[in-house]
Amino acid sequence: MNKAKFITFEGVDGAGKSTHLEWFANALRQRGIDLLVTREPGGTPLGERLREILLNHPMHAETETLLMFAARREHVEQVIRPALQRGTWVISDRFSDASFAYQGGGRGVALDKLEQLEQWVHGDLQPDLTLLFDIPIEVARQRLANNISLDRFEQEQGAFFEKVRQAYLARSQKTPARFAVIHAEKTRDEVQKILEKIVSSI
Ligand SMILES: Nc1ncnc2c1ncn2[C@@H]1O[C@H](COP(=O)(O)OP(=O)(O)O)[C@@H](O)[C@H]1O
Ligand SMILES: [Mg+2]
Repeated sequence: MNKAKFITFEGVDGAGKSTHLEWFANALRQRGIDLLVTREPGGTPLGERLREILLNHPMHAETETLLMFAARREHVEQVIRPALQRGTWVISDRFSDASFAYQGGGRGVALDKLEQLEQWVHGDLQPDLTLLFDIPIEVARQRLANNISLDRFEQEQGAFFEKVRQAYLARSQKTPARFAVIHAEKTRDEVQKILEKIVSSI
C-alpha cells in the first residue's frame, strides 16, 4: 500500500484554492482514496477560535506569526499526523508556506524566525505535494471585488499581495520538487484540466 499523502493548496486570496480543492478532493475519493480535507488557520476547535482572532483582530506581525504556528502545532498533532498514520490522505487549504508568504513576504517577519518556528512545529513533516495557485494580483483582487465582507488579510492593498505572491514563488523555488505551480488566472475548466493531470500522476 502506498503511504498516505499530505497535499497543500497555497496562493493569494482570490486565486481559486477553495473553488478547486473540492473538485480535487472528490477526484481522489472517486479513485478510492480515503481522505480528509482541512484548512489553516483552523482545522481544530482551538485552531478555529484562533482563526477568528487572526482574521479579525489587529496585532503585531510577530504575534500573528506565533498564533499561526500555535494553531498549526495543534493542527499537526490533533489532525494531520494521526490521519496520515492511519493511512488517510490529508488535503489542507494552506499550511506553513502561507506563513512564509504572508507573515514573511507580506509583513516582513524575518525568514530565520519563520524557519525556526517551522522546524519546531513540524520539523519532521512536510507536504508531499503543494499546489501553488499563482495569479496576477489584479486578477485575484477583481475576483474578490464582489465579496460583501473582507477579513483583515483580504483588506490589505495590492502592494501587500504582490509581496505575498513573490514570497510564495521564492519558497517554491527553494524546493521545486514539492511544488506544482498552477497558472490560476486561467478559466475554471483550464485549471481543472491541469488538476486532472496531477490527480492521474499521483
Ligand atoms: N479560474 C477561475 N476563473 C474565474 N473565477 C474564478 C476561478 N477560480 C475561482 N474563481 C472565483 O474567484 C473567487 C475566489 O475564489 P476562491 O476559490 O474563494 O479563492 P481562494 O480560496 O484562493 O481565496 C470566487 O468567487 C470564485 O468563484
Ligand atoms: Mg479560500
